[in-house]
Amino acid sequence: MKGIILAGGSGTRLHPMTMATSKQLLPVYDKPMIYYPLSTLMLAGIRDIMIITTPHDMAQFQRLLGDGTQLGVRFTYRVQPSPDGLAQAFLIGEDWLEGAPCALALGDNLIFADHLSVMLQSAARREHGATVFAYPVRDPQRYGVVTFNAQGRATEIIEKPEKPASNMAVTGLYFYDHRVVEFARKVRPSARGELEITTLNQMYLEEGTLQVERLGRGCAWLDAGVPDSLMQAGMFVQTIQSRQGMLVGSPEEVAFRMGYIDAPQLRELAQRVGKTDLSRMLLELVK
Ligand code: TTP
Repeated sequence: MKGIILAGGSGTRLHPMTMATSKQLLPVYDKPMIYYPLSTLMLAGIRDIMIITTPHDMAQFQRLLGDGTQLGVRFTYRVQPSPDGLAQAFLIGEDWLEGAPCALALGDNLIFADHLSVMLQSAARREHGATVFAYPVRDPQRYGVVTFNAQGRATEIIEKPEKPASNMAVTGLYFYDHRVVEFARKVRPSARGELEITTLNQMYLEEGTLQVERLGRGCAWLDAGVPDSLMQAGMFVQTIQSRQGMLVGSPEEVAFRMGYIDAPQLRELAQRVGKTDLSRMLLELVK
């Protein structure tokens, strides 16, 4: 399976912070935002990753992440000329995908849970259909909202409903089978002019092959798209890291644990960030 990180968009809800830089390069506590969705994809076992950015931000992402060799993965960069919607990712990546199944992670979403890797790897292994995750939120009207029937099966997903039928929002992490490009080509622009990921998900749902996994209490899903949630995400990461001494959203750690890199390579990555706590925590892993 391949993976795409969508790190474009306009980030208008974070202006003026995002007027001169990309939202997904802003700090979430001690790391750039994109490290979190990147760690998630790598934890799912995905090593071939396309990073989609705006035309003017691409060089900065390349400077930060390079070609991925240092993490034992491969990065490909592509530009989205204008923010025409999430489902466009598969059209932009069509030739690179070469018919492979693909996961999509939004560049401003963080997921943190116990046994996350087990859940992700099982979604990545499903050969037919798609998997999305639903999470209870207080402001569902900002998201794609899932309705479930009495048997607990998803029956409908509506994008940003004015009157949400449930409080279950679809998170920014999606797994699709090899037909995703074929489906994405059928998505027509919505009233706001975007190729909506919800339309794509609805296609799988109507076909009966959309698996909606519910994330519960032991799981945190944060989207860092507005000042409050950006701050909350930072505080969340800071709390876990300082209290438990465990890293959240470190692609270096994931690369090491997944066996993509060995101890000397991890030591080298730790040295790159020299005088930081992050470096110290990475070096502890080597020990
Ligand atoms: P949004 O938060 O919906 O949009 P945005 O980032 O443009 O921000 P704002 O609403 O404040 O103007 O996007 C979710 C994620 O998807 C985010 O990481 C940006 C990314 N994205 C793209 O890469 N391309 C797109 O066409 C869109 C709509 C979003």
